[in-house]
Amino acid sequence: MTARHVVLAISGASGAVYGLRLTEELLRSGVRVSLLISRCGFAVLQEECGLDWEGTPEEVTDKARDYFAAAISRGRDETPFEPAIDYYADDVFFAPIASGSSAPDAMVVSPCSMGSLARIAAGLSGTLLERAADCMLKEGRPLVLVPRETPLSAIHLENMLKLARLGVRIVPAMPGFYGQPETVDDLVNFVVGKVLDQMGVSHGLYRRWGSPEQ
Ligand SMILES: Cc1cc2nc3c(=O)[nH]c(=O)nc-3n(C[C@H](O)[C@H](O)[C@H](O)COP(=O)(O)O)c2cc1C
Repeated sequence: MTARHVVLAISGASGAVYGLRLTEELLRSGVRVSLLISRCGFAVLQEECGLDWEGTPEEVTDKARDYFAAAISRGRDETPFEPAIDYYADDVFFAPIASGSSAPDAMVVSPCSMGSLARIAAGLSGTLLERAADCMLKEGRPLVLVPRETPLSAIHLENMLKLARLGVRIVPAMPGFYGQPETVDDLVNFVVGKVLDQMGVSHGLYRRWGSPEQ
């Protein structure tokens, strides 16, 4: 399955950069992205990435478009890149993605807090993030979670097991070191590449075991 429309949710776990890099790669690959950011997701974006994205949905969409247009256009001679991305606020249950009839090709929560993970596992559907994830589950569509917490309690592990048994792909923010990473970017790209693998989006973000040195 190659995704053409993905819901990308940034929740309030450490590692907002995973969500940003993933979104960048999806947009670069021509995938349309519906962006969700939880309240604590905004806080972590500010704290870790220096991005003050809070505002009206239109303002957040504009800031996201500017950010990704700059990131993707950098180093390209061609005309500026126009990212196909729209942000939806957490309480907009009239958004198409709040209905299973308009479910996207895939949904990723990256990074995924233990709070969001627990609420998805419980089927609470109290925010657009939770409802969109619930739609993916009920429709049997690809849902990928990128949890970030350490150490993990039995509650966290039980929630992950419950979701994995429902077919959710759990891709922890847990980079491998067999590719001899040299930079933080290398570590981030490893995790992002693993998520893209789950969606059938081709990339060259990490060196596969047994492949020639890049
Ligand atoms: C700077 C910062 C870093 C955080 N890091 C994590 C984390 O790595 N993992 C986690 O599960 N929660 C983390 N939290 C706590 C969550 O943001 C909090 O539990 C929140 O209620 C989760 O809800 P959300 O998923 O809707 O954002 C962090 C909070 C802050 C402010």
